[in-house]
Amino acid sequence: MCGIVGYVGENQAAPILLDGLYKLEYRGYDSAGIAVYGEEGIKVAKARGRLKILDEMTHGGAMLPGTAGIGHTRWATHGAPNDVNAHPHFNRDESIVVVHNGIIENYLKLKKKLEGKGYQFCSETDTEVVAQLLDYYYDGDPLKAITKIMHRMEGSYALGILFKDHPGTVYAVRKDSPLIVGHGQGGNLIASDVPAVLKYTRSVYFIENEEIAKLTKDDITFYNIDEEVLVKEPSEIGWDISAAEKGGYEHFMLKEIYEQPKAIADTLNPRLKDGRIVIEELKMDDEEIRQIHKIFIVACGSAYHTGVTSKYVFEGLARIPTEVDLASEFRYRNPILDEHTLVVIISQSGETADSLAALRLAKSQGVRTLGIVNVVGSSIAREADNVMYTWAGPEIAVATTKAYSTQLIAQYLLALKFAQARRMLPEEELAGYIADLRKIPDQVEMVLGNKEKIQKFANRYLAAKDIFFIGRGIDYAISMEGSLKLKEISYIHSDAYAAGELKHGTISLIEEGTLVVAVLTQAELYKKTISNMVEVRSRGAFVMAVTNSGNQEVEKTADFVIYIPETNRYFTNSLAIIPLQMFGYYVALGKGCDVDKPRNLAKSVTVE
Ligand code: G6P
Repeated sequence: MCGIVGYVGENQAAPILLDGLYKLEYRGYDSAGIAVYGEEGIKVAKARGRLKILDEMTHGGAMLPGTAGIGHTRWATHGAPNDVNAHPHFNRDESIVVVHNGIIENYLKLKKKLEGKGYQFCSETDTEVVAQLLDYYYDGDPLKAITKIMHRMEGSYALGILFKDHPGTVYAVRKDSPLIVGHGQGGNLIASDVPAVLKYTRSVYFIENEEIAKLTKDDITFYNIDEEVLVKEPSEIGWDISAAEKGGYEHFMLKEIYEQPKAIADTLNPRLKDGRIVIEELKMDDEEIRQIHKIFIVACGSAYHTGVTSKYVFEGLARIPTEVDLASEFRYRNPILDEHTLVVIISQSGETADSLAALRLAKSQGVRTLGIVNVVGSSIAREADNVMYTWAGPEIAVATTKAYSTQLIAQYLLALKFAQARRMLPEEELAGYIADLRKIPDQVEMVLGNKEKIQKFANRYLAAKDIFFIGRGIDYAISMEGSLKLKEISYIHSDAYAAGELKHGTISLIEEGTLVVAVLTQAELYKKTISNMVEVRSRGAFVMAVTNSGNQEVEKTADFVIYIPETNRYFTNSLAIIPLQMFGYYVALGKGCDVDKPRNLAKSVTVE
């Protein structure tokens, strides 16, 4: 939610800021702005809408000369997305300027106090309060003013700040919103995420909560809230900028769909050694695993959908009771946790506010926690007792595909590890599952071969009003994700139903020609789901089916069928989701939607 960047160095700041913001646009894109410190002091340009508008308005940044600056791309929380509410925000005499990602929860109280002291506000944002609060405490020493406001602000923030009295210096501070510092040649940078600095450096510092960074052209100094200097070590990023670029694909989403075989293999292979599953990061021996009597999987969005699948996998393979919760529900429902519980938090970004809060809740009760996270060094990765990384690489499209696929793989591995430790799987069966795991990357590749067929079919549904997805068991979990993919990027209303539940109300929505997508990968449930397909078909529905190869029987009831290669009943999601991702993509493409940046959404949801 919102992306921030900052630069100070030998080069012109504005083009570097714009370039960095393009890499962060996935975080929010309803308005953008930059502030640059030039010969005539601090100049700000901001505009409602996509970054491209600001880019054109400033002639690629040329209208704001200067070698130090900060920038912002916004996902509106406080106040409508308009020019006034766009960041950066000034203090009253325009001598301090701020960009912000996060929410200052007590901003109204602070605003009232400042108004009482004569301050006036022009925007509806919480960020302007930060700028004015800095003004209130500022006596010539930026560090002192920053630590003072840190004591007053409640909520989350990553801030980039310029002070007119301190040319050639960018200040940054964070609490519960991500922020990194890049150490470049001839200049230093701040950013909400690594891709924004990768063009200039692979050497980055991860700023911890309540740490402050002071950047000049040649120096980076870190401080804690007591203004003491901190010594920090940089980390080297293991991938380069090409991983975060489209590389010839029309959209990041399509590129990421096609990257799935590799992402799955990268997540899988390091954990398969000599025919065994080795998850060193788990840091639990078999006896400790046997002490776990219950698993909670907690996540948001698509990550939650992977958890819905994994419940079946954990319970089926390891026979361990597993609950799946939306993080936003878990955190407020007073869950029953004890020393025999493992809480698994799943998150691509590692920054999702509700997932982070759920993790903290579990930790506060002394419960063992495991993060399954994609972004290295993110908050959930750092705060969980142990972290198992998914090696999907940078995911840029708002609608997740490859991170989702790798989250499934991580959970299959974990379930097999638990099954092994709990002695629920004879050796030969375990070997069979491992063999099936190894086949998944190639099988995904095969399913991707259906591209043309799916695109042609998708083009028939560009004007659809409602599209329903149905399935039972794991097929229901697959349906949930298929439905989400479609609706989030194509804006066509869609719902997923447990197939047997349709007749309890939703079937009244079926009209002549309504598309119903049925998922049938669980052989023991084929007949049951086929009955539900017959029910909707006899009410006029057109039925698309995704099923295992060999289930030709389905052609009697479905109008269009996509087959997936044979695997065991637990791993089918990894294959069946691929045609549904492609279907969503091609419907959105055909409708001319902005596939990578769907309206109202953001990839990293750092607000509640
Ligand atoms: C947003 C994204 C989804 C994602 C969800 C959880 O809504 O658009 O794709 O599944 O957040 O994000 P996380 O980073 O925690 O996996």
